[in-house]
Amino acid sequence: MDRARIDGFLDHFVDLASGATTIGLLAVADRSGLSRHLGEVGGGTAEDLARGAGLERRYVEEILSGLAAAGVVEYDAGSRRFDLPAEHALFIADESSPYFMGGFFDLLPAILSQVDQVATATRQGGGVPFEAFGEMAIRGIDRSNTPSQTVFLINRWLPAVPGLVPVLEAGGTRVADVGCGSGTAAILMARAFPNTQVAGFDVSTDSVEIARSRASGLSNLEFADLDVSEIPTDPRFRLVTTFDVIHDLPDPLAGMRRIRETLADDGVYLMMEPNTGSKLEDNLDARSAMLYGVSALHCMTQSLAQGGAGLGAAWGRERAEAMAGEAGFGSFQPLESISNKFSAFYLLTR
Ligand SMILES: C[S@@+](CC[C@H](N)C(=O)[O-])C[C@H]1O[C@@H](n2cnc3c(N)ncnc32)[C@H](O)[C@@H]1O
Repeated sequence: MDRARIDGFLDHFVDLASGATTIGLLAVADRSGLSRHLGEVGGGTAEDLARGAGLERRYVEEILSGLAAAGVVEYDAGSRRFDLPAEHALFIADESSPYFMGGFFDLLPAILSQVDQVATATRQGGGVPFEAFGEMAIRGIDRSNTPSQTVFLINRWLPAVPGLVPVLEAGGTRVADVGCGSGTAAILMARAFPNTQVAGFDVSTDSVEIARSRASGLSNLEFADLDVSEIPTDPRFRLVTTFDVIHDLPDPLAGMRRIRETLADDGVYLMMEPNTGSKLEDNLDARSAMLYGVSALHCMTQSLAQGGAGLGAAWGRERAEAMAGEAGFGSFQPLESISNKFSAFYLLTR
């Protein structure tokens, strides 16, 4: 045994465990309103912050102590003040920021609640169905994707597709968001392009109900709880989008084939998927560790629960390109200008 390796791994393990407990503290700060209050006032003593947010002082003090030790807030021993730097507030207190990470405060507790069931599936096969993760997972997915979609979808992502925006602005055409979840992307497109007909499809009835409840007043938007294999092919769509959906499908290749069939002859398909390589050796970093974790505990297991392939969230660009070819798409182009740390964007033509 190498003593230095034991000590080194001990430090590493403490980092891993404190990451998990810090997300727990942030989830409580998020739900209780402490993060929002900190974002508004910037900082204060535990007493001030508890009073201002209408919370119990002892909880506030302990939570902020943990967040100070974790480097989320700053602590000044002289004044006993806890301060949230403006740059950190973007991640935990400002839901309109594209950096907002509030999705993790719902998604991670939701997926950790199912570890017993995932362990059973690991022993016996099968998976844990999407519905088992409950409302908290739906909210987590929504809060993970809504901030960036709200800031970037209309102004940056769609304009990266050559010639698309003028067509959608002119109208008389149809757009579909497949695996629409709580509906943010479809709603944003329906609002931005009032003369274009927008449809959101998702197999999750609960998600579609949330999407419908948010979409009132938009006459060019409809939602339907349909499996990807049931999406209508007549009339066809000028644009189909999927945001973090293909790797969740029970049969991703069949899903991509179906999407191709729904496209008009001049139609394009914009696919957003996690930004990884297809080989484990290209993904050995903290970001991918998180992605494989979310995949095993949620994306992959819910696909296997549908009797599916369990592709996994880290299927990566090379496999996406190969499957686009197998599904019959005429071209596959990564849109490097809009890809980011978490997500890759691929443009596929019929
Ligand atoms: C990670 S979520 C992404 C949701 C949404 N696109 C967003 O950006 O927030 C994946 C979605 O795919 C949906 N989905 C999974 N399997 C499906 C299937 N067979 N047909 C249609 N939708 C499916 C899930 O219900 C879920 O809402």
